[in-house]
Amino acid sequence: MNNVSPQTVYLKDYQPVPYLAGEIFLRFVLEPEATEVASRIEFRPNPAVQRKGAPLVLDGERLELKSVQLDGELLDPSRYEVTATHLTIADVPQRPFTLEIITICHPKANSELSGLYVSSNVFCTQCEAEGFRRITYFYDRPDVMARYKVRIEGPKAACPVLLSNGNPGASGPIPGGDCHFAEWDDPHPKPTYLFALVAGNLALARDVYVTKSGRKVELRIYVETGKENRCGFAMEALKTSMRWDEERFGLEYDLDIFMIVAVSDFNMGAMENKGLNVFNDKYILALPETATDVDYVNIESIIAHEYFHNWTGNRITCRDWFQLCLKEGLTVFRDQEFTSDIRSRAVKRIADVKRLRADQFPEDGGPLAHPVRPVSYIEINNFYTATVYEKGAELCRMMQTLIGRDAFRKAMDLYFARHDGEAATVEDFVRCMADASGRNFDQFFTWYEQAGTPEVTVTETYNEAARAYELTLEQATPATPGQADKKPVPIPLGIGLVGPDGRDMPLDLDGVGVLNEPLIELNEAKKTFRFRNVVKKPVLSLNRGFSAPIRIKNAAPIPEQLFLMKNDGDTFNRWEASQRAAHALIRARLSGGVPAADTKSFIDALRTVLTDSRLDDAFKALMLGLPGEQEIATLIGRDIDPGAIHEARDALRAEIGQGLKDVLLDLWRKTESHAPFRPDPDETGRRSLRYAVLQALAGGNAALGIELASEQLAQATNMTDEIGALSTLVTLEGPEREAAIAAFHDRHKGDHLLVDKWFALQASAPLSSTPARVRELMRHPDFTLANPNRVRSLIGVLSMANPFAFHAEDGDGYAILADTILALDPKNPQVSARMATAFRSWGMLEEKRQALAKAQLERILGTTGLSRDLFEIVSKSLGR
Ligand code: TRP
Ligand code: ZN
Repeated sequence: MNNVSPQTVYLKDYQPVPYLAGEIFLRFVLEPEATEVASRIEFRPNPAVQRKGAPLVLDGERLELKSVQLDGELLDPSRYEVTATHLTIADVPQRPFTLEIITICHPKANSELSGLYVSSNVFCTQCEAEGFRRITYFYDRPDVMARYKVRIEGPKAACPVLLSNGNPGASGPIPGGDCHFAEWDDPHPKPTYLFALVAGNLALARDVYVTKSGRKVELRIYVETGKENRCGFAMEALKTSMRWDEERFGLEYDLDIFMIVAVSDFNMGAMENKGLNVFNDKYILALPETATDVDYVNIESIIAHEYFHNWTGNRITCRDWFQLCLKEGLTVFRDQEFTSDIRSRAVKRIADVKRLRADQFPEDGGPLAHPVRPVSYIEINNFYTATVYEKGAELCRMMQTLIGRDAFRKAMDLYFARHDGEAATVEDFVRCMADASGRNFDQFFTWYEQAGTPEVTVTETYNEAARAYELTLEQATPATPGQADKKPVPIPLGIGLVGPDGRDMPLDLDGVGVLNEPLIELNEAKKTFRFRNVVKKPVLSLNRGFSAPIRIKNAAPIPEQLFLMKNDGDTFNRWEASQRAAHALIRARLSGGVPAADTKSFIDALRTVLTDSRLDDAFKALMLGLPGEQEIATLIGRDIDPGAIHEARDALRAEIGQGLKDVLLDLWRKTESHAPFRPDPDETGRRSLRYAVLQALAGGNAALGIELASEQLAQATNMTDEIGALSTLVTLEGPEREAAIAAFHDRHKGDHLLVDKWFALQASAPLSSTPARVRELMRHPDFTLANPNRVRSLIGVLSMANPFAFHAEDGDGYAILADTILALDPKNPQVSARMATAFRSWGMLEEKRQALAKAQLERILGTTGLSRDLFEIVSKSLGR
């Protein structure tokens, strides 16, 4: 294949299908090399479509077509046309008819992990977004929903477990051989992307859940044999999720059985197939000695996310893939709320905003920027982005903020009442928000259609004699590719006017009165808010709780930030103030200044926070965390020298480590514990503080860091302690580092998830030796391009989590990434394209690195036979 520009799909071209499907019966005869799929589908003309006599055009790729029957009659090949992507039958009856198709697919040869494939001898499917077309011919699009009945036949020895969606039916041996069968029946109509099949030799953990209306649901988690003792935490998380969705949203589970399968080869985190979720095993398996606190938190929230899709995604699905945020943004919002309710709301909010800033803001400000609801795509798999997921969740959050929690719940109820069983649009969803609340959401819709992060400029005036405080806010959104002119969006801003005593003053808005809610709305390009009876000059605390996904352009001076750090009643903004202060200090260093006094007062403010016994450990850990190098780069925006940013940030780290050594050592002692491991919020918080402290101490004194980390490593009894110590130790060059790395591999080489951690640790080290180490590790016998987790652990961590090493001055980081992408693309285009997004910010680099990165992008684009996925990312990154 040549690099002729692949086709672009447009939202405006949406057309319903001319034929609808009723029931679909699928029979699989499983064989790794060649699996036979027989389908029988009931079609009927779509009454909503006027194109009478339109051909039946079904999607299908990489299939061997054996036969087609229409209403029981075998069709002569002259009656249909088969291309690489479609099966077309020009002449079909204009009344209900039945189509029977037999095809062969090749699971073992499927390295793309889309469709039916084999992972460690387990057959499994991944159909979202367009994988079903690699299983059989059908309308592979979300607005065609059908009732599935499935029969799986397979060898009893290799595949004792045979699973599909819905409720189990008949099963048993097949006479005259070593095969058996199982039947499954899913009563809920669903689109192709939610179909799933799993077959293999799997162990399971079981439990039972009783719904609020008293129905018993069987719960099963299937894993690799021998790992069934690692599912306990996932199972608890599942039950907690089921209860939460009943309590918070009134949503009950709707089948007799809910199953999760963990597989080791998976392109993404997990998949919400109806009644049969399939997970990347890294998000299921956990024991204290194999999983870190971060793993535990991820497992809990991803289990919740996929479970919540049962209503937001499955019961109500998407009309087309442009509506992806309808299920993803909303479901991320729901899982964020879940974690906030069962853990700490403030810690969760800070974590989510960090993630938004690290992943979404750079996306929104670069060549791959797109609206939360895009209007076009070349490859839909490229649009499972931070913008669709994370910014999409922020839009749901803003709607809840604007109408209040009660009205939001009413709107959700209305959404389910109106659209259950349908394939809906973002308009349908927002209309429910408007109808349930009485608020007009017309202007709000711009948030879905406009790319870019709005920037808000703040101007304040205070007149003590008149007790008048005037706040003028201006908004502007930078241009993004294809969208030069931007409209104002409605921005809900949590606000506090903090008095000199550290307490909030009343918000008495001229023309409105005292506000019930500490919230103002900036709907126009520019607006002035006049507050009365402001007796003392206030310190402004704006965008509290990060109520809107915006950037405040002109941050207040450092002394005000330090005041908020110590006093703001809004926990989020307390943290935000520390980030702003740190950012300002790093910027000052970058431009050659050495603001000794400011640095000292910053350290003093940190000291106040760290020694405040009313504050919890998790919050203190977050306060110790400086803004990331990527985040700093995104804020600077041009002529970036990642090496200089790293140095400036390190210099501030060193001052903190030295200036707070006494406090940090005290916390180091206080956070020591030999109690049995528990992944609960308190213990997780304690450990997060302990390892933030270790990093800070190491920043101030490398020898001390090595000493403490080595000591800790020697006595670690759980993976959090092991990784906590190691992640600092690997940043410190020396024999201890190398010995610890070797010992970790020795100890854990039998466990693929821990080998992933071993690769990731080394790729994460901000050392000039890291690119060479990564090249060496690419030749390690444990490294393989066939496993996405392994690729992400080594190359993904280098290119997306280690700016210092990735942006090595000689361009080797870029070369490593490009080499990997080119080798991977023929095997797994979804993952190669995802890796290529690490290049997206090349345009903001300083000249030399810009040229080096661009050369690699050009080299990729100049290669023949690129996948559609990779072509789209690379050509758009180059601005073509
Ligand atoms: N729908 C999945 C989720 O958000 C995402 C997903 C899983 C996916 N596997 C995929 C998307 C493969 C594209 C391709 O939970
Ligand atoms: Zn999802």
